[in-house]
Amino acid sequence: MAHKPVMMTTTLWDFPSQQYGDESQGDKRYRGATPAYILWNLLQRYTRPRELVVDPMAGSGTTLDVARELNRRALGYDVNVTRKDIFNCDARKLPLEDAKAAFVFLDPPYSTHIDYSDDPRCIGKLDARTPAYYEAMEKVIGEVHRILKPGRHMALYVSDSFQKGKPFCPIGFELFQRLCKRFESVDIIVVTRHNTTLDRNHYHTAAIEGNYFLRGFNYLFIMKKDN
Ligand SMILES: C[S@@+](CC[C@H](N)C(=O)[O-])C[C@H]1O[C@@H](n2cnc3c(N)ncnc32)[C@H](O)[C@@H]1O
Repeated sequence: MAHKPVMMTTTLWDFPSQQYGDESQGDKRYRGATPAYILWNLLQRYTRPRELVVDPMAGSGTTLDVARELNRRALGYDVNVTRKDIFNCDARKLPLEDAKAAFVFLDPPYSTHIDYSDDPRCIGKLDARTPAYYEAMEKVIGEVHRILKPGRHMALYVSDSFQKGKPFCPIGFELFQRLCKRFESVDIIVVTRHNTTLDRNHYHTAAIEGNYFLRGFNYLFIMKKDN
């Protein structure tokens, strides 16, 4: 039985599943699907009924489903289109006029960990140890800033990256610095990660033997555009 969401009051969030209630938000089989509880909390706090919510990297559509459930209007884009209400579009060039969105949510690829599609525009093909990943994400952040109404909020959900044998990659800090060039920071939430990797014992044994850590959390950066 999927739990009902509740309003979170601290900066540490932990949810029992990807979906809640009748489980109709996004698709839990989509690799990298965002926990719907996150969207529920953000939209309750930062939007009102009938306002426009935009997700430029919509994936399986979790943001769109939670927004519509809460009687908000929703627009989603992605280069890997999984359903009819998501438009095929590169988040670096959105077909939306300036200052239209009341809230924008972004859950980008975290380096090359997941193979989302064969589309060459996919930012998940760019290694976060190279400048190309951050150049691409700066363009996405620029578009988010452009489409957002003044005085309104956006949130970016992201994990750092570590691959055995390669240097640690602090994607969270890197992207936060870039967000701060355009937005005022409102808060930083830490969201506990639950996934199959963390459930498997041999990954933990390997982390001890290899003297590294498994990713236990994602950052949720909440930012505000100036009035
Ligand atoms: C972490 S997933 C998003 C998951 C989504 N929030 C959900 O709940 O299903 C990242 C998404 O970014 C998309 N993506 C990668 N590069 C993109 C680009 N240049 N423009 C738009 N979407 C892109 C991928 O196709 C993938 O669906």
